[in-house]
Amino acid sequence: MNRITVSAPGKLMLLGEHAVVDNHPCLVTAVDQRMRVTVEILDILEFQLEAMDVNVTGYRKPLRELGVGDIPKGAKFVEIAIKNINEKYPIKTGLKITTTSEFSSQFGFGSSSASTVCVVKALSQLLKLKLTNKEIFDISYKTVLDIQGKGSGFDVGAAVYGGTLYFVTGGKMIEPLKIRSLSLIVGYSGVKADTVTLMNNVKVTFANKQDRLTKIYNDIEDLVNQAKVVLVKGDLKTFGELMNKNQKYLQELGVSIDKLDNMIKGALAAGAYGAKLSGAGGGDCMIAISPENKEKEVERRIKQAGGEIIDVATNAEGVRIES
Ligand code: PMV
Repeated sequence: MNRITVSAPGKLMLLGEHAVVDNHPCLVTAVDQRMRVTVEILDILEFQLEAMDVNVTGYRKPLRELGVGDIPKGAKFVEIAIKNINEKYPIKTGLKITTTSEFSSQFGFGSSSASTVCVVKALSQLLKLKLTNKEIFDISYKTVLDIQGKGSGFDVGAAVYGGTLYFVTGGKMIEPLKIRSLSLIVGYSGVKADTVTLMNNVKVTFANKQDRLTKIYNDIEDLVNQAKVVLVKGDLKTFGELMNKNQKYLQELGVSIDKLDNMIKGALAAGAYGAKLSGAGGGDCMIAISPENKEKEVERRIKQAGGEIIDVATNAEGVRIES
């Protein structure tokens, strides 16, 4: 075998963002819009990358220079993933990687983490490394930390395992939840958010209010633990109420913005059980859960507030070999 294509799902944070970076649990679901990565073996000892969706074309360098020099933003995750594999399992052939995405990298669906996971899975197959899902998670999470310096790895977890997960920082706990389906309404704010900046903002805002931050994170953990139980029971009304409480804390953390708040307000006014931002905040997407007969009106109100509805199914399959 000298060529393989692998895909992995994007994700949406259901509850628990920010707190999960600080050793608390969160709930995350995989979405059915996927990253796709093809890896081909080359005779020449080079790393080559085509990633049109993030403006990388014709990128190439010798394998021994992986991770060295200025790396374009769109190439970082793939290159460092290969570097990390190479350090553990020396690679003796050249590699051409092509990535394509079913979703815009602007949405905050975790395209970088999903492509990292695809690369690790693809190389595991091609080089016959027989990595387990946990090993794929660990190498991918290390890659994210090498580049970003911080992060919980919840997006890596969703890309590897798929489904809906109860996830604790760094994969200390990755528990797949048995839920039938979860119909989420997703509204994109049109504003691109930078996760690391938002994490740092929270740190700065609470520099002199550490006790309050600890209390907020503990309260969010309670919400996540309650939400886990009601989600498995299918009690979406209570789940929605817990989302609303979580959103209040996210506002207090200072990571919501007017645009998201207005989209959320619209969704609730239209009869949604609950609505909140999803992810780091500062932009990206909001999510809402609504009685079925009100979904159309919820969508209309989100659009009225300037949001774009993104049509996704949740609880999607984790990383898989396509061909
Ligand atoms: O911005 P996103 O969608 O990658 O979500 C970030 C969520 C945080 O909890 C703020 C960070 C993390 O790594 O968990």
